Amino acid sequence: MAILYDSGKRIFKLDTCHTTYMIGVTEEGYVAHIYYGRKVAHTGGTYLLRLHEYPQPLRLPREKGTFLNALPFEYPTAGVGDYREAALDLANEQNQHGTELFYDSYSIEKGKPQLTGLPSAFPGKDDGVRREDGMLTDMVETLSLFLVDPVLGVKVTLLYSVFPKEDVITRSALIRNDGSQKLVLTRALSASIDMDDRGFEAVTLAGNWARERRIQQRPLNFGKTQIGSTRGETSHQAAPFMALVTPGTTQNSGEVYAMQLIYSGNHTEVAEKSQFSSVRLITGIHPENFAWRLGPGECFQTPEAALTYSAEGLGRMTRSYHDFIRGHIIRSPWKDKPRPVLINNWEATYFDFDQDKIYEIAKDAHAAGVEMMVMDDGWFGARNDDNCALGDWFVNETKLKGGLAPLVERIRGLGMKFGIWFEPEMISPDSDLCRAHPDWMLHIKDRNPTLARNQCVLDLSRKEVREEIYSRVYRILKSAPIDYVKWDMNRTLSDVGGMSLPPEGQGELMHRYVLGLYEMQERLITDFPDLLLENCSGGGGRFDAGMMYYSPQIWCSDDTDAIERLRIQEGTSLIYPMSTMGAHVSKCPNEQVGRVTPFDTRANVALAGTFGYELNIAALPAEDREKIPEQIARYHRYHGLVADGDYYRIHSWDEKEPWDCWMNVSKDKSEALVTYVQVLGRPSTNSRLAFLRGLDPDAAYTITEECGAAHVENGYGSFVPQTEGCGDELMHMGMLMPPLGDFQSRLYHLVRQ
Ligand code: GLA
Repeated sequence: MAILYDSGKRIFKLDTCHTTYMIGVTEEGYVAHIYYGRKVAHTGGTYLLRLHEYPQPLRLPREKGTFLNALPFEYPTAGVGDYREAALDLANEQNQHGTELFYDSYSIEKGKPQLTGLPSAFPGKDDGVRREDGMLTDMVETLSLFLVDPVLGVKVTLLYSVFPKEDVITRSALIRNDGSQKLVLTRALSASIDMDDRGFEAVTLAGNWARERRIQQRPLNFGKTQIGSTRGETSHQAAPFMALVTPGTTQNSGEVYAMQLIYSGNHTEVAEKSQFSSVRLITGIHPENFAWRLGPGECFQTPEAALTYSAEGLGRMTRSYHDFIRGHIIRSPWKDKPRPVLINNWEATYFDFDQDKIYEIAKDAHAAGVEMMVMDDGWFGARNDDNCALGDWFVNETKLKGGLAPLVERIRGLGMKFGIWFEPEMISPDSDLCRAHPDWMLHIKDRNPTLARNQCVLDLSRKEVREEIYSRVYRILKSAPIDYVKWDMNRTLSDVGGMSLPPEGQGELMHRYVLGLYEMQERLITDFPDLLLENCSGGGGRFDAGMMYYSPQIWCSDDTDAIERLRIQEGTSLIYPMSTMGAHVSKCPNEQVGRVTPFDTRANVALAGTFGYELNIAALPAEDREKIPEQIARYHRYHGLVADGDYYRIHSWDEKEPWDCWMNVSKDKSEALVTYVQVLGRPSTNSRLAFLRGLDPDAAYTITEECGAAHVENGYGSFVPQTEGCGDELMHMGMLMPPLGDFQSRLYHLVRQ
């Protein structure tokens, strides 16, 4: 059983295969966090609450404040004496803030409830582990803790679902007003844990446009270490993730406490080191600009957070999150299928195309083996540059005579699939949509909304806006057989005023926007169940597990330079599966950084993601063009390994090594793919040793080198690639990597003999 209640000690013990999470209830009824870490067998941990060290309110009510400031809480509240970062803050009808929660009851159930209107993890098909006696153990179970604030009449349900195989626990809170006052919720976070500090450092993913999700690490000092987004979307700047690691943590050793939020709007992640050297790690919807009316009988459901603990470094955290997202978040029927290798015309044509140009790009691509043509921005309304027409989702018949159907028919006639770009959340001031509905954009009374890329954001909290936009998208998708949609979002939210909400409801807008977005995407994948949906936001500005509930892949970054992508993809794959990373081969010199990299390396780096091309094949040098069929064959050969296997980070250019190397190992360890990129050539040095990981120590592997063009001489003779090796040797003695020139790369395929 994953969840156990020890009624004598009033302890809840949540077990995954390798971890234990323990919750206690104090005599007063406070719900306290006892322990999270390596698995333990017993429930004797109440001493960690140190109840004897602080004045307990029952015994010494006059010192209750000291107690509240020190107790490790499961779901800390604001206003009555705990001055650390709070998870919950409610204002009463006098606009006075104060909430205090006490334990009421609990339930333990098999499986897991889905959250209404929000993405949330689901129990998988092959949950559980079958024991030798045939019994299925380690199934997903859910603990509900019912807490009450007797003064406000508020009931809070803390939900904990335990995913034993993946070592993940999801948490969320449902807040219900059972009282008679009109309350306002000004803070409703998803998860919080309090621990003793152990010299923790915070690991986060930071970035900006074209430089998304770079791994950051910083020590915790007294006070708050905070990241987050108030931009209305996940953001390029901060992924909804924070991990606390013990000093010296590496890929393979050290302890890691991680939280990631399954949500796509404003978020906050805070690690607060208190006066007593305890550390609170907390995540949820960012409280800035958040105020939710909670009238009598009304509920608010927070998004879900996914927690994991690893005693074996960051690598184990990564693999737990990959398995969890693949098995319990991504619903698309495309999840386990090879994705069609696509070509996208964006960098080849920008807005300058017509039916014939798209067809010609598709024809050349098809001849090289590409499987799907994706028509990007510029096919609708009067859209000839990025100044106008967003919202006018009608085919531009000057470019595409006769609408979409004739073009799609020609493309399908080649034997290719067809995909199309939309940016449904946006409105150009210069558009027929805006002329008809000028009040549909987010804006503040008497103020011109700030433009970004010359566009404004539609108020998706309004039903009539969602209806109209969705029906336009729907009509296009019904007008021809369309296999794929790229759903883009090219600016963040500002001027967040909504015309359909009263003044006291304006603080709901940001979250209602996200709920509206989720509703539209749910409709889309319900109406078109076979559609392959790829989300995108100016590259990777909305790359999060929430969006993965709707789309199995997300465009990782507008930066398609292979070397920049090494960093971006390393950061992204720290917590998100490789099968979700949209990655393409683009032309050189690269559009974003002007760098020239070998065509092979561009393909080898894109193989770590969904794979495709973002260029005009006819404009490529012949020697590159000829390589495409083999690159596509390689994608098909290795897709399963990359998408479903275990990921190991071996070397990191981001950590200032001159080379980058990662591995994908099949779950049964029978096969592995090693990708090695030499970022800076280093002649006259010893060739490097990569200590491989995840192999079967007792097996011998055959090693085949792919892309085996010339190696650089190392000064002492030619490098001879290894053709076989034993698992234990490759993992403990390492494998020789060749000395290569700048930006050259190799793939090694290992097969158990
Ligand atoms: C964004 C996307 C690009 C492309 C353009 C089109 O920047 O990230 O891939 O679709 O929009 O305007």
